[in-house]
Amino acid sequence: MIKRLGVITSGGDSPGMNAALRAIVRTAIHHNVATFGFLQAYQGLIDNAYVELNSRSVSNIIQRGGTIIRSARCKAFKTPEGQAQAAANLTALEIDALMVIGGDGSLQGATKLAEHWPGQIIGLPGTIDNDLWGTDYTIGYFTALDTALHAIDKIRDTADAIDRVFLIEVMGRMAGFIAEGVGVSGGAEAILVPERPVDVDVLIQDMNQAKQKGKVSFIMIVAEGAYPGGASALAHLLEERSGVECKPCILGHVQRGGSPTALDRILASKLGAFAVEQALLGVSNVMAGIINNELVLTPMEQTWQNKKSLDPYLFKIQKILSQ
Ligand code: ADP
Ligand code: F6P
Repeated sequence: MIKRLGVITSGGDSPGMNAALRAIVRTAIHHNVATFGFLQAYQGLIDNAYVELNSRSVSNIIQRGGTIIRSARCKAFKTPEGQAQAAANLTALEIDALMVIGGDGSLQGATKLAEHWPGQIIGLPGTIDNDLWGTDYTIGYFTALDTALHAIDKIRDTADAIDRVFLIEVMGRMAGFIAEGVGVSGGAEAILVPERPVDVDVLIQDMNQAKQKGKVSFIMIVAEGAYPGGASALAHLLEERSGVECKPCILGHVQRGGSPTALDRILASKLGAFAVEQALLGVSNVMAGIINNELVLTPMEQTWQNKKSLDPYLFKIQKILSQ
């Protein structure tokens, strides 16, 4: 029976991490479990930097982006020495279970920690990328979609006003879920993702055909990992090859901030409470997720070894609906 629970928010922060932390702390308190937040993710485990969290510690944070226990990308934890130090600190503090809220890298780190520490480890999918296998959605994805979409709608106003092609770069170095989602919801004429090859000749042909059809704007959504050098490099090449003015717009880290949407708050609250309930049942080395609206557990390794696929139907209808 766990009595002392640790939690970290790790890697690329995402809107909803605070909502998940709040659910973890308050569910733990409901079951008479003490909670310790380690500051700056795995770095905090190595430095033994933590705060004990009570119900008031997580007041008024459900609506806040970022993470009150901060995050980090910690190189030291990629070494066995760093992992061993973290394990020793958890043991010395008599932590029984650790919640890791983060993306695929953080969950890889959790798998490594398990080689050094016998306590229970449960992952929660905290990343805007939505690229973790074992859950339909990750915490932060919905908010990042809405943030990017509001920017795209604004770009479309000026794209309609002046004859130009816009290439809007969204986050997703290794995965095109944000690009796929905002491409369809933003009515983009093209969606470029790391998972699919970019054919410049086809893009130019599509641009020309759109103009011949009388379309007054042409918007491409470019995932940052879809083309070497991203939207800026591709815009330069397309303008050079087509003679059409092509303007890049890099949305960048604005997609990582903002108040989480209702869907992200609901997802984070469900997964946080579920993770604590499962920890109380003794589970370990799994990630809590939601598939077809069912709460599920997935072995930790599978979440980052298996590749989640984009939705081919969205790419099919995007071509038809943007004609
Ligand atoms: P994300 O979790 O958003 O994918 P990162 O890829 O930066 O972000 O991973 C977050 C942290 O997890 C890293 O900074 C590192 O501390 C830890 N980590 C990532 N991969 C590994 C690994 N293979 N072994 C040990 N720790 C890792
Ligand atoms: O993993 C989330 C993410 O926002 C990716 O979409 C993006 O490529 C990366 O983090 C950016 O990393 P950093 O915040 O370290 O620049």
